[in-house]
Amino acid sequence: MYSPFNFLFGWLSNDLAIDLGTANTVVYVKGKGIVLREPSVVAVRQDSRGTKVLAVGREAKQMLGKTPGNIVAIRPIRDGVIADFEVTEAMLRYFINKVHNRRTLVHPRIIISVPSGITQVEKRAVRESAESAGAREVYLIEEPMAAAIGSNLPITEPTANMIIDIGGGTTEVAVISLSGIVYTKSVRVAGDKMDEAILQYIKRKHNLAIGERTAELIKMTIGNVIPDLPYETMEIKGRDLVEGVPKTIIIGADEIQLAITEQVDVIIDAVKEALEVTPPELAADIVDQGIMLTGGGALLKNLDKRLHQETGLPIIVADDPLSSVVLGSGKALDNLKILREVTVQ
Ligand SMILES: Nc1ncnc2c1ncn2[C@@H]1O[C@H](COP(=O)(O)OP(=O)(O)OP(=O)(O)O)[C@@H](O)[C@H]1O
Ligand SMILES: [Mg+2]
Repeated sequence: MYSPFNFLFGWLSNDLAIDLGTANTVVYVKGKGIVLREPSVVAVRQDSRGTKVLAVGREAKQMLGKTPGNIVAIRPIRDGVIADFEVTEAMLRYFINKVHNRRTLVHPRIIISVPSGITQVEKRAVRESAESAGAREVYLIEEPMAAAIGSNLPITEPTANMIIDIGGGTTEVAVISLSGIVYTKSVRVAGDKMDEAILQYIKRKHNLAIGERTAELIKMTIGNVIPDLPYETMEIKGRDLVEGVPKTIIIGADEIQLAITEQVDVIIDAVKEALEVTPPELAADIVDQGIMLTGGGALLKNLDKRLHQETGLPIIVADDPLSSVVLGSGKALDNLKILREVTVQ
């Protein structure tokens, strides 16, 4: 919809914050808030003429596991970092154009969040893909820092803020004080590995082959770290590995709990490890303030309760776990002082 006002607004709100996640990409426009949230998936066709992007985001995710031979649905970010540079760039370009109504002359300043553990080479890949997708200036912010700002923790105070961000590819545990990261630990176990574990479990226990998307849906529907009796159940469809035909089975929340035990334990161990090495004065703050749990994995039922049982500390689930990172990056973009303090090279 064209209006002089939109035009003017477009001018004023060039700058973007992007959470380029393993599972989801979220875009925030300065002055407007979150304007886009789509799965980080790209469908491409590969043939003798080269590679052509067919669909990006939600539309591409629907194609996952359903594409004919020459079409592939790619998730270009794996374990939190760029696995496919070209496809990431195409995806970024598409999203940037989409939020700017395809006005090609726009060259925004962009702040992108990156996992805290990534290498210089990986950082350069993010920077370069944003530049070739049209960014004028690129700032990088570490995800736990962004998540902490986005969940309104007082990061500039001399007090310990502990945050756990469980995404699709990585779980990051960090302690932040005085605008700096005091401790950070990133493990490449998060939502995707749980989906994979569910898929394997169902294959092994029920001789049923299911896809990645079905596994994720099961996790989000009946996944529960401390399921109660009577266990919730779900009807799932897949291919019987013995008969080779489509089949429907019923599975219970207790089975899914079992299937993802290993992944949940890795996350708990990462949190315990962080607590063990946190300096005593800061540890005392955490006892008072508790731990902020965010990222899509924070929505796994009863994970907060389990973390509380394991640590004895208060666990607070962020208001909007799927948005904390981009909201934090967006806040940094709005505030030059914060931007200078928290961005990394
Ligand atoms: N209700 C839910 N229960 C369990 N898991 C959920 C739920 N909702 C979303 N998730 C999971 O959260 C993950 C996505 O979270 P998020 O968008 O924070 O990840 P990301 O930022 O894309 O990944 P990363 O930070 O690792 O790069 C997915 O694995 C998804 O399955
Ligand atoms: Mg994330």
